[in-house]
Amino acid sequence: MNISKVGVLGAGTMGVGIVQVAAQAGHRVVLVDVNEETLGKAEKNLQAVFSRLVEKGKMSEEKMIEVCNKISYGSSFDAFENCGIVIEAIVEKIEVKHAVFTQLEKIVSEDCILASNTSSLSIASIGSVLKLPNRIIGIHFFNPAPLMPLVEIIPAVQTSDTTLKFSKALIDSWGKTTVLTKDTPGFIVNRVARPFYGEALRIYEEGIADFATIDWAMTSIGGFKMGPFTLMDYIGNDVNYAVTESVFSSFYFDPRFKPSFTQKRHSEAGFFGRKSGRGYYDYSEGAQLPNPNEDLVIGQQIFERIIVMLINEAFDALFMNVATREDIDLAMTKGVNYPKGLFQWADELGLDFVLSKLEDLFNEYGEDRYRPSPLLKRLVRQNHAF
Ligand code: NAI
Repeated sequence: MNISKVGVLGAGTMGVGIVQVAAQAGHRVVLVDVNEETLGKAEKNLQAVFSRLVEKGKMSEEKMIEVCNKISYGSSFDAFENCGIVIEAIVEKIEVKHAVFTQLEKIVSEDCILASNTSSLSIASIGSVLKLPNRIIGIHFFNPAPLMPLVEIIPAVQTSDTTLKFSKALIDSWGKTTVLTKDTPGFIVNRVARPFYGEALRIYEEGIADFATIDWAMTSIGGFKMGPFTLMDYIGNDVNYAVTESVFSSFYFDPRFKPSFTQKRHSEAGFFGRKSGRGYYDYSEGAQLPNPNEDLVIGQQIFERIIVMLINEAFDALFMNVATREDIDLAMTKGVNYPKGLFQWADELGLDFVLSKLEDLFNEYGEDRYRPSPLLKRLVRQNHAF
């Protein structure tokens, strides 16, 4: 894409990954962070990443020099002056985002697109502080940005068609798979994936199975790459809990998204997961992972309960026009590595099977959490495959 320079604000986990992607796609990139020490670390980390690519034969020495020369680092927003787009990846706090976007607009030209990599905040709210709000857009990468193919593109109510078309084309040209999603809490992935964690935690809390058994059911029977507890330990219970709480409150406390005390207590105790050495599992040296109870009947029940809840959420997202069917399936396979798209899975299991499982749960518990999506009910009534 013909764009003068790409700006990235925030040299943390996501910012550094986005810089790598943009520079490898051939752009000049400037990375800005308020913290000089973080910026220094980011430069070292990026150089180490490119050196490893050269060692592995995935990049030539010349290309590495060319790419490294394209990246500049700065601690002042003035460095964004000639950028065609600036992607913000700083702390997830709306007041801080409002302050930086106000400041950014004073530096960049009128046609510079201003994007946020936020996972959970409203793009409309971020854009509300701009004098030219039609240039705001959400461009949501997944961690690690250089490896995860999915990017969610989120136009706000203020976003112009030009901003949307340009942003989507730019990210497509970086070799990413883009999906278009409405500016609603959790966008596609962080909304549709909630039951993977929430229902697993609920099954544990009811005493049906322990962490290892639930993880075993989801990997061995479901074919997921990681079980929910292993995945929450990998993401960090503090981070995963915060996303759940944010989605729950943003949905006006819809009980479908209710967070779990088990996760809250693990997070409060500092049992964040791998990064703290202890989460649902013990990661200290020499510690053994517990053995699952490989009972196929229990395993099948666990898998079916979680998968129908995931499918129900996918149907609800489609029902509310958050994204298209194709984009929802793409998002879950490319953004969180699900073995299959949830609509494809629904078809394979049979929509009437999915609905009857949900109805059983709803009748048993009487909780809104288990109410089947109206779209699923409608399709079963009309005797549709999806
Ligand atoms: P991080 O904590 O690793 O990095 C944030 C960086 O922003 C830090 O280097 C900090 O010094 C800098 N910063 C803070 N305030 C600043 C300011 N006013 N001006 C300039 N720099 C400032 O954060 P992370 O994890 O990279 O997340 C960044 C954004 O990306 C958040 O909005 C988050 O929700 C989103 N995100 C995070 C993902 C993840 O897995 N970590 C995945 C997708 C999105």
